[in-house]
Amino acid sequence: MEKDIVDRIYLEKLGQVIYELTGNHYPEERLVLLAKKINAYLDKHDNKDAKFKIDEFLKTKTVFKEILDLITVPETKFFRELPQLETFAKHIVPLLKLPIVVASYACATGEEPYTIAMILEELNITNYKIYGFDINETYIQKARSGIYSKKILIDIPENYKKFVRINNDNIEIDKKIKQKVDFKVLNLIREEDFASMMERFDAAFCRNALIYFDSNSKSKAVKNIAYTLKKGGYFVVSMTEVLNPIHTHMFETIKINNIFFYKRK
Ligand SMILES: C[S@@+](CC[C@H](N)C(=O)[O-])C[C@H]1O[C@@H](n2cnc3c(N)ncnc32)[C@H](O)[C@@H]1O
Repeated sequence: MEKDIVDRIYLEKLGQVIYELTGNHYPEERLVLLAKKINAYLDKHDNKDAKFKIDEFLKTKTVFKEILDLITVPETKFFRELPQLETFAKHIVPLLKLPIVVASYACATGEEPYTIAMILEELNITNYKIYGFDINETYIQKARSGIYSKKILIDIPENYKKFVRINNDNIEIDKKIKQKVDFKVLNLIREEDFASMMERFDAAFCRNALIYFDSNSKSKAVKNIAYTLKKGGYFVVSMTEVLNPIHTHMFETIKINNIFFYKRK
């Protein structure tokens, strides 16, 4: 391993450039994790080449695949935070006009957008479109495949299992659903990435991603997401997250079953 890679100044610079480009913030405890990931990456690959790539990243400030794989957290699952999804299905979906168009921001490998599609299908709604967005192209490619390990079946409630096909060790999302879910690479803090999506969505999910942002980058992301919501559209964050007062002027806060939803003013 190249010794200087774990040098404190180098690491802080890396954290700073990642922050500028992606909004992901590196306080002390995450810097330690970043150091571990960088070291593992250097151990796995040819050190010189890998180190050269990171040096290039610092110089050019252009995000490349390997860096994104190091800094993004793909943790997700089907039907994550089920009580919130059930509340959304029961109390919010009936308020939406057809066709229902939903964004799933920071969707990682696609489990969330496919879950939303399954929920709408189960409500006998067929006139809908879901868009999954993430900064990491590797995740987006996996999402597009619609193929997951059979192990995830455990996350899918019984009545929704009809929306997947089991093939040996894998499951595949039903074709009818796959056709209605599109995926695109998008950076939450890049205003340009949102330019063509003004007031496009009836609901926008962005769960378990903004927790890695600081207040400044979170503000940018929330503003970009708000721009893509129709007036009266709903913004859904994780049940463990709340919007700060600086963000809520764009939204009316609504509490249903003790769960917060944010309605675009
Ligand atoms: C922990 S996952 C959350 C997945 C899903 N929303 C959920 O709640 O299960 C966080 C995702 O945020 C994505 N992400 C991080 N920074 C991003 C950015 N600036 N723009 C878009 N996506 C980003 C990561 O690539 C990762 O897939």
